[in-house]
Amino acid sequence: MLKRHLPMVGHTRGNRLPITCELKCGSACSHPVPNTSDNAHFRDIANAAISRRAALGLGGGLAAAVVIGANAVSAAAPATADNGTFPTGGGKLPFDAIDPVERTVDDMTVPAGYDWAPIIRWGDPLFDDSPEFDLEHQTGASQAKQFGYNSDYLNVISDGGDDRSGYLVNSHEYTNENIMFSPEYIASNPKDVIETGIEAHGLSIVDLRRGGKGQPWEYVRGGRRNRRITGSTPFTVDGPAAGSELLKTKDDTTGTKVLGTLNNCAGGTTPWGTVLSGEENFDQYFIGTGAEAERRIGITPGPTSRRWDTVDPRFNLNNEGYANEANRFGWIVEIDPEDPKSTPVKHTALGRFKHEAGTAVISRDGYAVVYSGDDQANDYAYKFVSRKKYREGDKKHNMTLLSEGTLYVAQFNGNSPESEIDGSGQVPSDGDFDGWGRWIPLVKNDKSLVEGFSVEEVLVNTRLAADTVGATKMDRPEDFEANPVTGKVYLALTNNSGRTADAVDEANPVANASGGNRDGHVIEMIERRGDHTAERFNWNILFLAGDPNQEGNKAYFDGVPLDMVSPISCPDNLAFDSVGNLWVSTDGQPGKIGYADALHKVTLEGRNRGLVEQFLAVPADAETCGPVIHDRDNSVFVAVQHPGEGGNWGAHTSYFPDFVPDGPLSGDKVAAPRPAVVQVFSTQG
Ligand code: FEO
Ligand code: CA
Ligand code: CA
Repeated sequence: MLKRHLPMVGHTRGNRLPITCELKCGSACSHPVPNTSDNAHFRDIANAAISRRAALGLGGGLAAAVVIGANAVSAAAPATADNGTFPTGGGKLPFDAIDPVERTVDDMTVPAGYDWAPIIRWGDPLFDDSPEFDLEHQTGASQAKQFGYNSDYLNVISDGGDDRSGYLVNSHEYTNENIMFSPEYIASNPKDVIETGIEAHGLSIVDLRRGGKGQPWEYVRGGRRNRRITGSTPFTVDGPAAGSELLKTKDDTTGTKVLGTLNNCAGGTTPWGTVLSGEENFDQYFIGTGAEAERRIGITPGPTSRRWDTVDPRFNLNNEGYANEANRFGWIVEIDPEDPKSTPVKHTALGRFKHEAGTAVISRDGYAVVYSGDDQANDYAYKFVSRKKYREGDKKHNMTLLSEGTLYVAQFNGNSPESEIDGSGQVPSDGDFDGWGRWIPLVKNDKSLVEGFSVEEVLVNTRLAADTVGATKMDRPEDFEANPVTGKVYLALTNNSGRTADAVDEANPVANASGGNRDGHVIEMIERRGDHTAERFNWNILFLAGDPNQEGNKAYFDGVPLDMVSPISCPDNLAFDSVGNLWVSTDGQPGKIGYADALHKVTLEGRNRGLVEQFLAVPADAETCGPVIHDRDNSVFVAVQHPGEGGNWGAHTSYFPDFVPDGPLSGDKVAAPRPAVVQVFSTQG
């Protein structure tokens, strides 16, 4: 039964920890927003369009004639079933929403009838010859054979026809040296600390086993697929920009071979069985030269916080022969998890920006389509459509699909009068924040469609190209995924502290005087004719996040009474269950609404569309990543990223998941926080 959520007595909001900002994204929010382009906010485009229409005697009803109502049921009152309860979106994981959890609680909190256990943690040995985890003696060599740090994208896949074996794929976004090493170790072993950091980035592929369906998984040390991909693993580059002058360095005069992948955030598993991973805040690892293209992607001159340039000159773009090194990061990478000896690929055809997400779907005509967000305030949403068609069962062919195609950037147009979109979050009089959109092509196969840019320039400096074509400045696009049940597409916009009331549009309609779009929102997109390759779409806002019990709240959940929803802020990673409910993990609730980050289920269809129910909360200072919903298997999986990030060595704020604060610093359980992959499972059989 659904319960009403009452304000929590004595609860206070918080602020994001400065250490999180610095290590996660190089304190992006404290730097000037890189998008200083003249590319108009939508309001300017709308004004221009209205004047043109007025001049032609067409009236000012911008685009109204071509807009399809986003959601016919959105204005209906929420339904109450005969027994007085609210019907939810169904699915096979029944639970009563948990109360939000205070941000200082150092525990996993799961619903009644469920329990949790870690599957694998930072430092767990992956191979028969892996060194044991030893916090006082970690090196690059030991870390290269152990599970990486700060788990993000996750998938858990059972082998076809076998419920007892499978594997997981998990990305390792960044490192928190202040809680990974003692100050003494950092002072006496700086090279080991940096090399451990480089090897703790990337991805892990790990074999799993279990007793049978519905039972918890455990990882297999020495499994046949076990692999670490790190900040030093060789990659090949493909697509139209491979071999470009813009990608050459003194170590790679071909512009086709790169060492390492960095800041791997959300990703996806393709229908042909490979893994895609987005290289996100890669800018923070490089000392810049001050070039305009570097500034637009966020690279600045001056020392980085991790100082990797002190062990490897390529991390300073001012060093002779390395001016292009940072151009070799910021891509979607593809990995074949079934072949541990395969060389992973960086796909230039999908453009270079701070990629978040990269889930491939097959369109009804057989093309591969990949949606991907660019996670920066006022940056854009993109999709890629392959030139060639998918062939069922032909993995070799399908692994060429992302090498050539059309790269698009999104423009969102609203259908309500400008006067009704004022930054207050007040729903416009037509009942929805909604409208239509265009996918604007930037590159088609090997041809640039952007005036003044070669194809290589569009793909390497994609933001600069997109600035010139009328793309919509968004509130930090994060995960971007198609619902496998309905085909509708969902884009998480995590927040945008810099959004101002004079720059709102109907797709980004919130601007608090005190903090812009503080809590973020989720947009639903419906491709025309239900075709993922379409160049037009309709869109609407599914919810504006917030805590309805807090003063100044802007929350809106498509008509669901505000006292029925769980508080939610900073939507980040998205997933779907077997019946097409949306599951949303959060990154930043502690700093915005003062609660621990969480995983929420959101009903999408039916009269309670917009209902948010909290399923779990993660430990102190952690973010919830990579949700995987196996509701047919009574299981939910999450990656717990940066537990205890606000602490310091000797003053940890979390001891998740070993919880041995007085324990040893080496061996199976250690007295320090460890990012981990967690399984939540039903205890009801
Ligand atoms: Fe790595 Fe955009 O979150
Ligand atoms: Ca509207
Ligand atoms: Ca993310």
